[in-house]
Amino acid sequence: MSQDTTILRQIYDYANRANPYPLWAKLRETPVCWQEDGPDEAGAYVVSTYREIVALLHDPRISSDLRKSVQTRGRPRTSTAPFSFISLDPPEHDRLRYQAMRHFGPPERPEYLEQLRPEIVHLVTTLLDQLQGQRQFDLIDSFAYPLPVTVICRILGVPLEDEPQFRVWATALIENISAQTEEQRRQREQARSDLSQYMAGLVERHREHPGDDLLSRMATDTSTEGRMAESYLVATAGLLLIAGHVTTVNLIGNGMLTLLRHPAILERLRNEPNLIPATVEEVLRYEPPVQLISQRATLDEISVAGTTIPKGVLVTLALAAGNRDPAQFADPDRFDPERRDNEHLGFGSGIHICFGAPLARMEAQIAFTELVRRLSQPSLVVDPPPYRPSPLLRGPEHLLMTVEEVR
Ligand code: HEM
Repeated sequence: MSQDTTILRQIYDYANRANPYPLWAKLRETPVCWQEDGPDEAGAYVVSTYREIVALLHDPRISSDLRKSVQTRGRPRTSTAPFSFISLDPPEHDRLRYQAMRHFGPPERPEYLEQLRPEIVHLVTTLLDQLQGQRQFDLIDSFAYPLPVTVICRILGVPLEDEPQFRVWATALIENISAQTEEQRRQREQARSDLSQYMAGLVERHREHPGDDLLSRMATDTSTEGRMAESYLVATAGLLLIAGHVTTVNLIGNGMLTLLRHPAILERLRNEPNLIPATVEEVLRYEPPVQLISQRATLDEISVAGTTIPKGVLVTLALAAGNRDPAQFADPDRFDPERRDNEHLGFGSGIHICFGAPLARMEAQIAFTELVRRLSQPSLVVDPPPYRPSPLLRGPEHLLMTVEEVR
């Protein structure tokens, strides 16, 4: 039987957003396969088994700079906004990532992020206090969205009053990551330009009047190893603002949805809060906020699982499929916070592994600890909930729920 080359297109179809997992399983039957209608209308080789995904994420013959793919090379860019390090290869990637990490919380200085903990606990408490007296609410609008947005704004030094403005750009960027039409591409580039202009103004203000925040520290770093060219500084600031909240909103949304669908586990967490960190990891495996990485191209011909991927084509790494690969995870469709060796792909792997993972983990752990403790008799009103449009950054748009009481 000839291979179905439309599975990725079906995954992109909004009708399958609530449960794409049977389609991911179908893709996994052929670990590496060419699929129509990948990002940028070009088609892509999709890699969907755990071992192969990890191998490619560590393979220097795979590039994150799509200007190096023949499929997209030559397409005019309407925006002059520079690329951020998520879309660059070594050595630029490594240098810029290091320069940003110096001020964010390098692994060897975990106390850097730790000092944010009381503030995050306070914010979570305040958001839940505001829900007291309500029996029904949307967890996304009232909790899952404001928490990470407020935290990343505070870290970066972005005024929270500007949220309505950057929310428009963030939405346009996310919904058009895998632009399929000229109009979508135009909207994405416009949003990139607008965000970039906004960030340039902010960087300038922070340089003149530095405060206790990441933008100020990056903008005033004049050391040989820390000084970032202006255009990269602006791009990095924009990347951190967007990457720093949309995914965490979906982690909290997907996590609460999963717990509401598994009430016995939710009840257990109330008595055993020490299981919360492992629960967050299991949500990242079972319902990953980043379902796929589509921004990759081959720099050379690569042979994977018996298939030869030609040089200069687009490659999509199906994290959501790898996370449920039975060759790596026993009984993969079961949500099991006690799973051992949960080396999920929720944060990617290799040199581009998530920069903000320690922060995302801390926010989610605090959020779930307080949610399970303070919400009594929580239950879903609409299942499945309405989802956001993006198939890549997947999560509920709203999560309407009822409670007996917010304690
Ligand atoms: C990269 C997931 C939160 C900043 C990534 C990647 C994934 C990911 C899968 C790899 C992308 C690739 O290989 O192309 C997530 C998830 C999050 C989260 C699921 C929340 C649950 C955050 C936060 C920040 C952040 C809070 C910032 C404070 C970044 C950056 C990169 C990245 C800057 C690019 C790293 C590089 O190219 O070296 N993230 N992320 N992320 N993430 Fe996150």
